[in-house]
Formats: sequence, C-alpha cells, structure tokens
Amino acid sequence: MASTINLVELRGLRLDDQKAGTRRQRLYLALRQSILDGSLTSGSQLPSSRDLASQLSLGRNTVIGAYEQLKAEGYIQSHAGAGSFVANALPEFWQQAETELNKPLEPRKIDPSPGTEASNRNGSFCVGVPDLKSFPIKIWNRLSQQIPPAGLSNLMGFGPAEGNSELRNAVAAYVRASRSVNCSAKQVLITSGAQQALDLCCRLLLNKQDHAAMEDPGYQGMHRAMLGHGAKAIACPVDQDGIDVASLKALPKTPKLVYITPANQYPLGSVLPLSRKLELLEWAEQNNSWILEDDYDSEYHYQHRPLASLQGLDKTQNVIYMGSFSKTLFPGLRLGYLILPEVLVQKFSLAKNQASGETPSHTQAVTAAFINEGHFHRHLRRMRVLYSEKLALILDECASLPSWVDTQPRAAGLHIVIQFNKPNVDSVTLEKNIHQRLASAGILSSRLSEYYLEQPIKTGLVLGFANSSMEQISAGILCLKKILEN
Ligand SMILES: Cc1ncc(COP(=O)(O)O)c(C=O)c1O
Repeated sequence: MASTINLVELRGLRLDDQKAGTRRQRLYLALRQSILDGSLTSGSQLPSSRDLASQLSLGRNTVIGAYEQLKAEGYIQSHAGAGSFVANALPEFWQQAETELNKPLEPRKIDPSPGTEASNRNGSFCVGVPDLKSFPIKIWNRLSQQIPPAGLSNLMGFGPAEGNSELRNAVAAYVRASRSVNCSAKQVLITSGAQQALDLCCRLLLNKQDHAAMEDPGYQGMHRAMLGHGAKAIACPVDQDGIDVASLKALPKTPKLVYITPANQYPLGSVLPLSRKLELLEWAEQNNSWILEDDYDSEYHYQHRPLASLQGLDKTQNVIYMGSFSKTLFPGLRLGYLILPEVLVQKFSLAKNQASGETPSHTQAVTAAFINEGHFHRHLRRMRVLYSEKLALILDECASLPSWVDTQPRAAGLHIVIQFNKPNVDSVTLEKNIHQRLASAGILSSRLSEYYLEQPIKTGLVLGFANSSMEQISAGILCLKKILEN
C-alpha cells in the first residue's frame, strides 16, 4: 500500500516569490526538487490538486498544471480514480544530471586583461597577419551599407553554397589575370576561409588511412586537416627550391594528394622552379594523384611578379588551386576560395552545403564590390610598397644579431625566418627558451621546429612583420638581440 504524503509534509514547500516564473512553474520546480532530493519518496501518493491548492493558497488550475508537467516528464504517475504518485523508478541518470545541474557553477576564471588572447594572435611579430591598421575601413564600411534594399533582401535569404555569383566572377577574373589560372567562374567555390577549403579537400579526396603528402616543414593547418580526416600525413622534404619531387617519387606508397605552396614555400620561402613544377605535373598525371596548390600570399612578391601558378600549367585537371583573402584583406573576414577541376565542382558544392551552407552572403557581396570598384587592386598596390619597406627594415635590423643566427634572405611574403646555428647546444631547447623569453616581453613569434612533421632539421624563429609598425619592428629586434646575447 503506497504511503500518502500528507499536507503537513508539503507545508515546507516554499514557492520562493523572488524566483522568476509563474506560480505553476515555481510549484513544479519545488515539487520536482523534493522528489529528486528524496523528501517525497518513490511510490507515495500526492495530495489531491484541490487539497494542495487550498493548503498553499493557490488556484486549483495552478496545481493541476504543475502535476501535468511532472507527469509528462515522468516524475509522477497518475492512475484514474486513484490519484497521483511519485514515480517508482526515476532513471538514475536523471538524478545525477539533476545533481550536476544544481551544483553551483565554478567561478569563471576572468582573464585579468580581457582580449589578450585575441590581441596576442594578431600582435607584434605574429605570423600571417596583414597590417590591420592600413586596411581602408571607411571604404569597407561604406560598401557594407551601400547594398540596395532589393539586393539586401536577396542577401538575407539562403544563398548558393558555392558562393555569390558576383564574387565568383570577380575571383575568376582576378586569378586568371594575376596568376594565369585557367578557369571559369563555374569552377570557383567560395569557402569560409582557406581552412574550410583544406578541410573539404581532405574530406572529399581522402579516405581513412590514405596517404597524403605535404612539404616538411609546412603548414600546420593542412597537417591538422589531414589527420582530422584519418589520412596518413607523409612528410616530403624541402630544399632551397621547394618540395623535393625526387623524394616524392621515391615514396613506397603513392600519395593520393600532395599539398604544396609553390609560389612561396611555407614557411621557408623558396619558389618552386618551372622544371620541378612540370615534373610534379607529370608525376600527378601518371599516378592519378591530386595536387593542392596553396597560393596563400602570392600577391606579395617585392622584386618581380610571382611565377605563374602551377594550375595554369596543368593540362590534365589534376591541380586544385586555393586562395585566401586573409592576407590581402583581413583574416577575420574568413573568406577563401578553391578553383576546382570541372569533375569536382558538383561534389564540392554539395559537401560545402552540408558542411556549413553558404559563406555569409553579405560578406561576399561587400568583397565583390570592393574588388569590382578597384579598391582591392589599389589596396594591394599600397600594401606591396609598405610591406617591402617593412621587410627591408626587419632584414636590416637582423643584421645586428649574433653570428650564430642566420637570417634567410627574402623578397616575398609577410614573415621572415631566422635560423639558429649555435654549436654544442640542444637547439630545440634553445629555441624554446628564446621563444618564451620573447613572449614574456610581449613578442609573439613562432618556433621554426614546430612547422616540421618529422624530426626538425632547422630550428629558429618565424617572425611576421606585416602587422608591426616600423617602431615595433626596430624595438622587437633589439629586444631579441638582447635575449640572444644573454
Ligand atoms: C600557408 C597558409 N595556407 C592557408 C592559410 C589559411 O588561411 P585562412 O585564414 O583563409 O584560413 C594560411 C593562414 O595563415 C596559411 O598561412
């Protein structure tokens, strides 16, 4: 025989007036809490709605509503003509979950200097960040507001996963003219940053355990994408000319995909000569492998125009070309693109749709307007001059570093590499210590050894210079010099 919860037991039930919610919700919460903490035991009978309402000075409908909700959630059961009972078996995990939910939250650890993390990723000497202060933000803001109301309503609904047609046309025209890429706008897939493009390539072109080769040292973002899709990342050594195609050919198992940065090897900075490009294309054709050409910063060659793209030389549609607006505009835009061989267009567009749907339409429209009105070309022209001055300064300042530090000559890109050649020391530990000391002085470099997939052959630092002012460059290298001399 089930025990009956008498009204005296429920007198302690407090519907805290300070708590938000209706009376019904507060009664429901109070009863639920009493059931979960065991004050109302399993199987026992609850008072009738009429009795409880009068005991607690509530409307009867309020009590009925609370009982209904408890019943719907399985805390109580009711039997026709017999009344309502606390459920016999409350699933244990509910009780655990409830206990967890009721635990006070750990006090949040508040960063003493809000925004440090974000600013560190963009701060002095951070790699891969363009000069954010020099971006023509007023023009951008004007274009952002200029979309006509009719256009705006188009942009507010769902858009095509492969990208806004104006931006696809603008990108196709740009890469054809500036990089000799062979394509029509139909082959352009707009992505949310080049990182999404890398992810899609790994997802669609590789199966688990497939071999995929990349330059070593190389771009960690691609390494992570390969591993994330269960592929086996194969390290291909890099020499003064870029990826060593002979060692690629000598691999025991043919990789299905090869990722390269031919215009400006990342991070060491070599340019892949034409002879190697042709050798690579021939190899890809014979082995039915894909080549993913990452052209992440080819806009920034300061002494001559960059060599034409690999894609433009490809006759057999083995090359996928990738670009990003992160270095030419700003990384927070999260806008990249792929130029796909025709056979891959539909497959990638479907996968992009599944992955994220379209990249934000308004962002695409503003970028298309920025390109089509000529601002993109003007901005690049200005930035090339500015960055070549910054590069000259940082190389000049580095000439005063100790003789065991080798500054690699450069005429392209947004970073430099300094290599450590100190005899009789553990160079990785040395690199780590110097990196840490620089970080404590507020200078965020990257460690060269961390760009290697395998045992690092070189150690040193990668220093981004684009988002540092001239003064910050001089002061930063002076600080580095002091640390190195210690
Ligand atoms: C070599 C290389 N490829 C690709 C990317 C990815 O760019 P996004 O910011 O468009 O994802 C970067 C970004 O730093 C990069 O350095």
